[in-house]
Amino acid sequence: MGKKGKEAARERREQRRREVTLLRALPYEPRQRWWDHVSPRAVAVVTGANRGIGFEAARQLALHGLHVVLTSRDAARGQDAAERIRAEAPGDVCVSVEWRQLDVADAASVEAFAAWAAETHGGIHVLVNNAGVNFNKGPDNSAEFAEQVIETNYYGTKRMIDAMVPLMKPSPYGARIVNVSSRLGRVNGRRNRIGDAVIRDQVSNDDCLSEQLIDEMIMKFLEQVRQGTWSSSNQWPQMYTDYSVSKLSVNAYTRLMSRRLSDRPEGQNIYMNCFCPGWEQGTTGKFFAERREISF
Ligand SMILES: NC(=O)c1ccc[n+]([C@@H]2O[C@H](COP(=O)([O-])OP(=O)(O)OC[C@H]3O[C@@H](n4cnc5c(N)ncnc54)[C@H](OP(=O)(O)O)[C@@H]3O)[C@@H](O)[C@H]2O)c1
Repeated sequence: MGKKGKEAARERREQRRREVTLLRALPYEPRQRWWDHVSPRAVAVVTGANRGIGFEAARQLALHGLHVVLTSRDAARGQDAAERIRAEAPGDVCVSVEWRQLDVADAASVEAFAAWAAETHGGIHVLVNNAGVNFNKGPDNSAEFAEQVIETNYYGTKRMIDAMVPLMKPSPYGARIVNVSSRLGRVNGRRNRIGDAVIRDQVSNDDCLSEQLIDEMIMKFLEQVRQGTWSSSNQWPQMYTDYSVSKLSVNAYTRLMSRRLSDRPEGQNIYMNCFCPGWEQGTTGKFFAERREISF
């Protein structure tokens, strides 16, 4: 890219930043606040909410008037986080937050959590699948923790969706599932896309997309990790490869599930999206980054 091109790209980024800042400051209109019409308070579950984006998502949901189930692996850190939301809320806002233990990589923990949610709340209205790990930083690209990354980011998300879909409460406004993903996992992005054209086409094609296909892609990647050939095969995204494969799987699964959920009867709708931290919106199976829909 020449000097002029770089300058134009920088100006576009700045412009986008200004727009996002402006959009973030806009309050929700009353007609958008569907949860205000749910009684008792709409229940939102956030995974991995003791810190980072999950904590902020839990805080925002609580400030907007939902009852938040803030979950974490570690009891003390989760309880501290819940207490912080209560303590820091403005005096005129009555927040409702409780903590619950949840390790999304542990099937027994997810099962116990679902049983508790059914018994205590009779179901939930919102699920934010935020819990995630990434062991690479800066220019690193190691796949040493690939199994843990995929187990947490993809299978953890999928496990929660499987456990919570039957518990999503029916309502005329529809329940919401939000999968926190990453643009690094775009199937067909210009940068960092899957090198293997066959896998790329299969995962992009709604007609052949299936859980089995995603599992097979993951197995192939992990097999190459075990054999030490994942990097030289040129079949995978080049940046943070294990993380990108995990988020790519989340994105594909979101697309698959949103189609499956689209024929539920009126009153039992579940809207599922994934987004790259920035912003998301209640439409089915779409991918958002910085307050706009982008292609998968
Ligand atoms: N930050 C970014 O720039 C960025 C960009 C794109 C996407 N994302 C995605 O956004 C999400 C949150 O990222 P973040 O930056 O806020 O990360 P973070 O600060 O590292 O927080 C991750 C959270 O996930 C939890 N977690 C990890 N493994 C878990 C498990 N097995 N079960 C339950 N919770 C688990 C962590 O709990 P512990 O405290 O117990 O470790 C922590 O609460 C992730 O899905 C990430 O991939 C982040």
